[in-house]
Amino acid sequence: MKKILFAASEALPFIKTGGLADVVGSLPKYFNRSEFDVRVILPKYACMDEGLAGRLKQTADFTVSLGWRRQYAGILETEVDGIRYYLVDNEFYFAGDRPYGEIYQDVEKFAFFSRAVLDAFGEIGFWPDIIHCNDWQTGLIPVYLKTMYQQQEAYRKIRTVFSIHNIRFQGRWILNEIKDVTGLGADVFTPKGIETYGEANYLKGGIVYSDIVTTVSKSYAMEIMTPEGGEGLDGVLRYYSYKLFGILNGLDYREYNPAADRRIPYRYSRSNVGAVKPKNKRKLQEAMGLPQSPDTFLIGMVSRMTDQKGFDLVAYILDSFLAGENVQFAVLGTGEARYENMFRYFAEKYPDKLSANIGYSEDMAHLIYAGADAFLMPSLFEPCGLSQLISLRYGTVPVVRETGGLRDTIEPYNKYTQEGCGFSFANYNADEMAFVLRAAKALYESEQENWHNLMLRGMERDFSWESSIEAYESLYEDMCRVSG
Ligand code: ADP
Ligand code: GLC
Repeated sequence: MKKILFAASEALPFIKTGGLADVVGSLPKYFNRSEFDVRVILPKYACMDEGLAGRLKQTADFTVSLGWRRQYAGILETEVDGIRYYLVDNEFYFAGDRPYGEIYQDVEKFAFFSRAVLDAFGEIGFWPDIIHCNDWQTGLIPVYLKTMYQQQEAYRKIRTVFSIHNIRFQGRWILNEIKDVTGLGADVFTPKGIETYGEANYLKGGIVYSDIVTTVSKSYAMEIMTPEGGEGLDGVLRYYSYKLFGILNGLDYREYNPAADRRIPYRYSRSNVGAVKPKNKRKLQEAMGLPQSPDTFLIGMVSRMTDQKGFDLVAYILDSFLAGENVQFAVLGTGEARYENMFRYFAEKYPDKLSANIGYSEDMAHLIYAGADAFLMPSLFEPCGLSQLISLRYGTVPVVRETGGLRDTIEPYNKYTQEGCGFSFANYNADEMAFVLRAAKALYESEQENWHNLMLRGMERDFSWESSIEAYESLYEDMCRVSG
């Protein structure tokens, strides 16, 4: 039995700010359980769902050394769908109403978390063969492991995988302060170690000190090795390209299943999508305060509101698009004020055409996936993207920009061969986006049978974990074989 410990800063059903939580909350469930014992370790945030917090049982407490400080760590345990979760408790670090705060606080918070993870093994009686770390918040785990913990035999055997879900966020901060906070040796704070551009960089730590680096699609693995996509780390990634793999995320098909989804008013599958989806569309229009017109092309968006997601393109065309087209937008999201306010403005200017729900709501998200005709995701960059996969599963046709995981998952519609499952455009250009949106709308309005078949082809695609899990399993197997 190979023992794997996932370390991350968020996972469903405990806490979610984005797709990372979907991935860490679902991937562990899909391993072959007779060969892999996969467990998960997370921070225990004060802002976690109280119902879940009530199910946790404290099983350990110990002291963690962090530079010159000594800090309390508790371990709370629970099981979800047969997966054991460990939550690291410290009311000072994990306080507040959000998991992430100011960067200068977060670097210390996650240095603490990283050491607590490593110090927990003896306490919880689980010594993993592989620690699978995710994003910058866990970047110091391989660094500590390969430096301060190497004297101890039990730690020398542990291997690490580091997964990059988004290279934009790196956990960078003043080098001398990180030296002081982490207590790591001077050799770590060099260009060969975790230093970049004069700062300490946690994500770079994950890349340099781990045995294997993965990212969440093949295209993104290539893109981050270029100056355009590498966010300053492309050189480092090219240097370490021998240990970099792109493995496409899967979607939790049990969680996102239109035939069994309790969050949507009318459930459906491929066989009755044509009859049932319009009923969800009517409910969505009602919930969003849009006119309940069955034949108006309804475009959904569910997204963090950041420039990553292509909102600058949307801002550029929205006024003229809404003025000139018979179309509806159902928007759900929260994030940067400039984008939130843009949608508020257009919702007031075109109340019959655009409705903006500024906030976070799982129920509303599922209703949009189930009720919209098309889903717009014109990302500037997209490591994998789960929203387009959810859309496909719910028979909502994705309109995307060809970048990262969007390019690897959305085969564009070909009107001659009647192949493909969505619409896409190549350049980060608003007119190109408007052009494909109009093409999608024209197909919806004038070629109903072709539109229906396009929708069915999307629903037939398989982006479940079943199709990606093998890649992780064989990666782990190879790593365990090499380490003997
Ligand atoms: P990212 O992780 O970059 O935000 P992904 O497409 O991988 O993008 O995952 C986003 C996830 O978060 C999806 O499950 C999406 O439905 C969900 N999501 C984003 N914004 C909201 C929101 N405002 N309310 C509910 N769910 C949201
Ligand atoms: C990040 C990326 C997104 C990806 C998710 C899960 O948040 O922005 O593209 O799907 O991580 O890997």
